[in-house]
Amino acid sequence: MKFLLIGDIVGHGGRNAVNALAPQLREEFGIDFIIANGENMAGGRGMNTKTLKSLDESEIDVFASGDHIWDQRQFLGEIENWPNVLRPANLPKGQPGKGYDIFIAKNGLKVGVINLLGQVFVGTNADNPFQAAEQIVEEMKSQTDIIFVDFHAEATSEKIAMGFFLDGKVSCVFGTHTHVQTNDAKVLENGTAYITDIGMVGSRNSVLGRKVSAVLKKFSTGIPSSFDVVNSAITLTGAVVEVDEKTGKAVSIQTIVRDFD
Ligand SMILES: [Fe+2]
Ligand SMILES: [Fe+2]
Repeated sequence: MKFLLIGDIVGHGGRNAVNALAPQLREEFGIDFIIANGENMAGGRGMNTKTLKSLDESEIDVFASGDHIWDQRQFLGEIENWPNVLRPANLPKGQPGKGYDIFIAKNGLKVGVINLLGQVFVGTNADNPFQAAEQIVEEMKSQTDIIFVDFHAEATSEKIAMGFFLDGKVSCVFGTHTHVQTNDAKVLENGTAYITDIGMVGSRNSVLGRKVSAVLKKFSTGIPSSFDVVNSAITLTGAVVEVDEKTGKAVSIQTIVRDFD
């Protein structure tokens, strides 16, 4: 069974690219299930009903998210209408939405997806992601061995540690949040596919999806400025993971880089 993982989708440029490229990639690789990170879909900040609807053609099965999940405040009241959207599972209690669930793939198999947020350099008050992962994976295992974890985190050390922590317990641990794809995709010793970050769907001519001149002004002078999203010269980065559906173990992981315009 094959999975397509798509990095943080940034702005309408990112959404257009996903609508065009996801069906092509599905065909090319024989994809059964798509997981995308949507935390920057709405003009770079969060997501909402409108942006989720705009991605209908891409047939994404599950949207994960991260620290920007509530940037569009109205989404606090909308998330419950979207059973295929996850917010990080280890956010403090009392927040709407859900952090993990079991979904039925088009081939009828059960796929567990878990979204977790890191604690190092992310600036949120998330609970310990390792303890959350342990508890959720144990709960899911009674229903399926096919489990994917989107670990939305900044520090490479925290992400690599999570890969080893869950090796042999889940099918894949993939990182998001940095918007830069890493060159360390591998299947770990006990059968878990791992990559520190799958990257983003955003502009090649940008700083993590934002206008270069604005970011340079901030770094070079310290003067705060608004960082507009760049919606041209989009590249989609992500990964394709093959899983043995009988065991839930990963067979392979390969990174994807596709220029859109
Ligand atoms: Fe992001
Ligand atoms: Fe993020």
